[in-house]
Amino acid sequence: TILVLDFGSQYSHLITRRLRELNVYSEMLPCTQRIADLSWKPKGIILSGGPYSVYQNDAPHVDSAVFQLGVPVLGICYGLQEIAWYYEQTNVLAGEKREYGHSKVNVARHAGLAEHIDKLFDQIEDNMTAWMSHGDKLSHLPEHFVTVAYTSNAPFAGIAHARERLYGIQFHPEVTHTPEGKVLLKNFAVSICQAKTDWTMGRFVDKEIARIKALVGEKGQVIGAVSGGVDSTVAATLMQQAIGDRFHAVLVDTGLLRLNEAETVKKTMSRDLNINLAVVDAADLFLSRLKGVTDDPEKKRKIIGNTFIEVFQEKAKKIAAEAAGSPQAGEIEWLLQGTLYPDVIESISFKGPSATIKTHHNVGGLPATMNLRLIEPLRELFKDEVRVLGKELGVPEEHVWRHPFPGPGLAIRILGEVTPEQLRIAREADHIFITEIQAAGLYKKISQAYAALLPVKAVGVMGDKRVHSQVIALRAVETTDFMTADSFEFKHTFLKRVSNRIVNEVDGVCRVSYDITSKPPGTIEME
Ligand code: XMP
Repeated sequence: TILVLDFGSQYSHLITRRLRELNVYSEMLPCTQRIADLSWKPKGIILSGGPYSVYQNDAPHVDSAVFQLGVPVLGICYGLQEIAWYYEQTNVLAGEKREYGHSKVNVARHAGLAEHIDKLFDQIEDNMTAWMSHGDKLSHLPEHFVTVAYTSNAPFAGIAHARERLYGIQFHPEVTHTPEGKVLLKNFAVSICQAKTDWTMGRFVDKEIARIKALVGEKGQVIGAVSGGVDSTVAATLMQQAIGDRFHAVLVDTGLLRLNEAETVKKTMSRDLNINLAVVDAADLFLSRLKGVTDDPEKKRKIIGNTFIEVFQEKAKKIAAEAAGSPQAGEIEWLLQGTLYPDVIESISFKGPSATIKTHHNVGGLPATMNLRLIEPLRELFKDEVRVLGKELGVPEEHVWRHPFPGPGLAIRILGEVTPEQLRIAREADHIFITEIQAAGLYKKISQAYAALLPVKAVGVMGDKRVHSQVIALRAVETTDFMTADSFEFKHTFLKRVSNRIVNEVDGVCRVSYDITSKPPGTIEME
């Protein structure tokens, strides 16, 4: 196991992710972790970057046992300065020039010196591209250290201790902007620390199930909302495998779901995955509250968000009452959330004795009002890792690869008022589009696709008759992070086929358009 001590850099979790990609098991703990309190001995320690300057009065510092354990240590950015600070507290100065972005790093090799020194940059070019993001830099080398890398702005971009396996680098090897960063991390973890390379997703499952069991105890009960999306499905499956029927999944049918969506989710959850699922059909309630809301997308979102919380809470209360009545049951005290790492906006806090984690929640504000404790089994993972995990757990392919679907559902894809008739049109058109995308083998290439219903009417001619009916706008985008996106380039023949089918098969539509706006300036959803 490699221990990653986190100083709060936005990239800290990428370090553990890269190690996982190398099949090396790692644990990330707050930088103030006392080494004596660990129940295991790490094979090596990585100190992350962080937003502080080591010479500030309130700057965090690691337990000095880190340097006395006799295992290799790699400091990244702030971690480099922390190493220098440990050896010589006056060493680090504020850099006159902040440095962000790509930088050319030159490697300095030392054939005549101790063997470990050159190992960090083994198999790496002498002139590598690396990502920098720092204000401070070393003003001179601490005693007993040698320079192993330098840039035009940072003469000590990489340092190594002449005798101990102790290294510091100013750049970030964990980001993809440092193409050879993974080789460097492999050099450190595998060649220098000799960590085992036997970590797999299967091991993650074992560890997470054990953690959930320990957390929840013999009788504890967990509740969670599921939508059929990959995150909530995978989180629910993991929970089912950990505590069985003491996990209560709730599917709120808002009436704003896609064609057959509620049925498909029900079937998968209860039949294929054996999840204890309660379905609440709240379509009428949602629709009645959305009545008359025509041109205020934010109002739609608010109504849907609040109604969702209300319906979920009511169901949770009922389930809790039933659970309390059963002999082995305690009250429900846990809420499952499928939060992923990119949703976690604040890293582990090292201030105060208990590490707290603040997250951003998809389903607006559920936990705060419900007095439940959070369980977030996916919080260390990225989307693609969740898919691998889903496969490992036996979640059906169609759920593992499902495009994201927004909480407010079709309501933000029906521009203008949401009525049963508008829902029917949007649903049918969307179904044709997605079916054709699947038939053409394009579903996995596209990040998200849907049909929106525009609130305008256009003229058409159908069966020798003039018609005046609505317009569908198709949208399909490619993106990795959903922050920026490009419209997908379909073949014209494909779009014509979809257009033909929609106009012919969906009553009330006479035209189909394709939205080619990228994000920005557009957003992925229409509202
Ligand atoms: P935008 O439209 O902001 O969408 O480019 C980015 C991603 O977020 C999803 N999205 C939402 N998801 N509730 C959700 O759960 C929402 O209110 C919401 N709005 C947008 C959208 O589907 C896309 O994947």
